[in-house]
Amino acid sequence: MSARDRVGVHFTTKYEASPTARVRVPSRLNLVGEHTDYNDGFVLPFAIDREMWIALRPRNDHTVHIRSESFVDEVIFDLTNIKKAEGWGEYVKGVASALSSTGRELCGFEAFLASDIPMGAGLSSSSAVCIGSAVALAVASGFYLEARELAELSQRAENDWVAVESGIMDPLVMAGAHQGHAQLIDCRSLLAEDIAIPPDIMAAVLDTGTRRGHVSSAYNARRMECREAARHFGVPSLRDLDQQALKGAGTGLPDVIYRRARHVITENDRTLRAAAALRGGDAAAVGQLMIESHESLRDDYEVSSRPLDAMVTAAIGTPGCFGARMMGGGFGGVAVALVERDRAEAFKKAVPEAFTDLTGLPAHVHLAQAVDGVVALPGTDD
Ligand code: GLA
Repeated sequence: MSARDRVGVHFTTKYEASPTARVRVPSRLNLVGEHTDYNDGFVLPFAIDREMWIALRPRNDHTVHIRSESFVDEVIFDLTNIKKAEGWGEYVKGVASALSSTGRELCGFEAFLASDIPMGAGLSSSSAVCIGSAVALAVASGFYLEARELAELSQRAENDWVAVESGIMDPLVMAGAHQGHAQLIDCRSLLAEDIAIPPDIMAAVLDTGTRRGHVSSAYNARRMECREAARHFGVPSLRDLDQQALKGAGTGLPDVIYRRARHVITENDRTLRAAAALRGGDAAAVGQLMIESHESLRDDYEVSSRPLDAMVTAAIGTPGCFGARMMGGGFGGVAVALVERDRAEAFKKAVPEAFTDLTGLPAHVHLAQAVDGVVALPGTDD
């Protein structure tokens, strides 16, 4: 059963009533543009059909009751007096706190959450909880949130309430994507351009089965190194530098900081070129840029892992593949590949075998459809 089917069953079992609304939140993948969002740079993601669902009905008071099939504890809190604690419910509370600071009147609800987005795999399961609970609160309270505000609220919840540094890419695309399209997002202006994905290609999510564990310290360290590089050049962020300026760095810039900056600068350039290639239907060029992105993430940014490198090797050695690279924060989780649609099923079969030959580990491949961003739906299908 998919999360869509499970969520209604769970809700009805727990609350002995039908939900009055459901929220569908997609996961996302990113073709090119990794570790660029927090440098005010460019990303090229789209929303995909690995989904999280929340079924809900409003309450007549100001309390939120929410259960998830993945955790034992039920989260219950008062919207007029939100207090910090531990656990997955903090994402919901963080969003509620961010929303209530906008002055909106919030109403309580009871809900169940079911998800097919694996946790810690680089598929942004935590942003999905934030986006989904923001929409659930909006539905219960009777207002609508635009994609951009939704994304900013979600990021604020993660950064300020949960104290996890994360960029704007995931919430923005999960809130505002359109079916059949990737989005070129400028993470400084937050403007997004839809680019149609040519019908003869598709993307695949390649799961190494490894999970990244506690790497937020490595992610934060990369962010600090980027800030240090920007400070060295006297610019607001690495977005404002080009390769020419980097080459003129002179002495005084440690090698590791130089390489971090080089990744971000070249990755922004690759992302803009990949967007142009996608617009022109040139899948081979997009694939080549993905391969170069992986090399830069592995060698300059140093956020790959042996299983991720092996997955990329397995993918690009398989017929029908234009290119592949690690995806998300790194250190484990998933890679992404671009493949010919006609050969996608064969690719899906062959890649796990090739990966297992290289690593001894099992793998899973999901052929991804580009879907709409978050949406609120009626409580049941009929
Ligand atoms: C994580 C963050 C994103 C982004 C990626 C790296 O997934 O949540 O905002 O920074 O890492 O591109």
